[in-house]
Amino acid sequence: MTTLADRFRRHARHLPDGLYRTLLLDMADDWQAGGVVAEICRDWADAPGSEVVQLRLLAGVQRLVLSRAEPQLAMYYANLGGAASPAGAWQDFEPALRRHVDELREALQVTPQTNEPGRSVPLLVGLFDAVRRSGLTSVRLLELGASAGLNLLVDRYFIAGDDWSYGPASSPLRLTQAVLGPITPASFTVVERRGCDLAPVDASTVEGRLRLTSFVWPHDLHRHERLRAALAVAASHPVAVDQAPASSWLASMLEPAVAGDLLTVVWHSITRQYWPPAEVAATARALDAARERMPIAHIAMESPVPAAQSDSESSHRPAELNVQVSVPGRLADPGPVLLGTVADHGVPVRLALLSSSWDA
Ligand SMILES: C[S@@+](CC[C@H](N)C(=O)[O-])C[C@H]1O[C@@H](n2cnc3c(N)ncnc32)[C@H](O)[C@@H]1O
Repeated sequence: MTTLADRFRRHARHLPDGLYRTLLLDMADDWQAGGVVAEICRDWADAPGSEVVQLRLLAGVQRLVLSRAEPQLAMYYANLGGAASPAGAWQDFEPALRRHVDELREALQVTPQTNEPGRSVPLLVGLFDAVRRSGLTSVRLLELGASAGLNLLVDRYFIAGDDWSYGPASSPLRLTQAVLGPITPASFTVVERRGCDLAPVDASTVEGRLRLTSFVWPHDLHRHERLRAALAVAASHPVAVDQAPASSWLASMLEPAVAGDLLTVVWHSITRQYWPPAEVAATARALDAARERMPIAHIAMESPVPAAQSDSESSHRPAELNVQVSVPGRLADPGPVLLGTVADHGVPVRLALLSSSWDA
């Protein structure tokens, strides 16, 4: 039988040398020896691997450090400027964990969740394509599985390649050199934006920001930088994310009639793999029904691997960026068009063989 210690060690094997690799190995030993990790994880021994107890625990510990409950541990966290060697760090972490057993037991209840603003790059690439193909420039953006809604702010970020750029140059979030392949920007205006998520995170609260930050690994400095910048944008431009499952929320958003010159863009990234099959099917049905009544673009950055296999180590393949556009009476639905593949966190986007829609 696979134990938590086995899972911690297996996860460690896939990490570069550094704090999390070392901590996972130390936590595995501690669990096996019946130490504080066993006490914190006592209700999770039989949890399936998909619950990723190790990520819940590491995030709980990072929250203690980010919130300065254990400030002396910051020296180990690269995202907090720390550069101390992780070798021997356990002698500092172990007593810190002991001081917060109840808090860390509560932390294990928090499902891992990130909101990756780098994924605004594929969204923008898809939007350029959808605007060009539909000929419509007024956009209503609807995001499924939006988390804190940071990617609904795509037009408030500066995104650029060698010879093109989009968005305000003064934006705190700058995503450059993020597309491999030629891009011709299209202009559009987002006139409405809204998202849904089973468990939305409120980026306007300290707790929400802390939660999102705690699930980003300390050595991922670019991701911390991007998240900080996107949270700064969200602070002045809050977006609404409703607590709801994708399919029923989408059906209700697509029900009312909209102006014929409004392009409804339904977007989602790295969420479909977590949906039950009935949710996937119901979402597709809601989109199909709406296509007959209004201009719709469906932009998806999702794993090509079915959910059932997505946990297996050998199944890791880059996400695909697919765009499906239709305008009733004017542009027939050609089905999804694969624009390219995308790295896990949205950058870079590697454009596939270009369709004619990319011609200027
Ligand atoms: C890996 S996160 C990705 C968040 C965001 N799309 C991004 O790319 O940064 C997956 C998100 O999907 C949400 N989710 C999972 N199942 C869902 C469902 N059936 N309906 C709506 N949201 C769901 C989770 O709560 C989580 O916020």
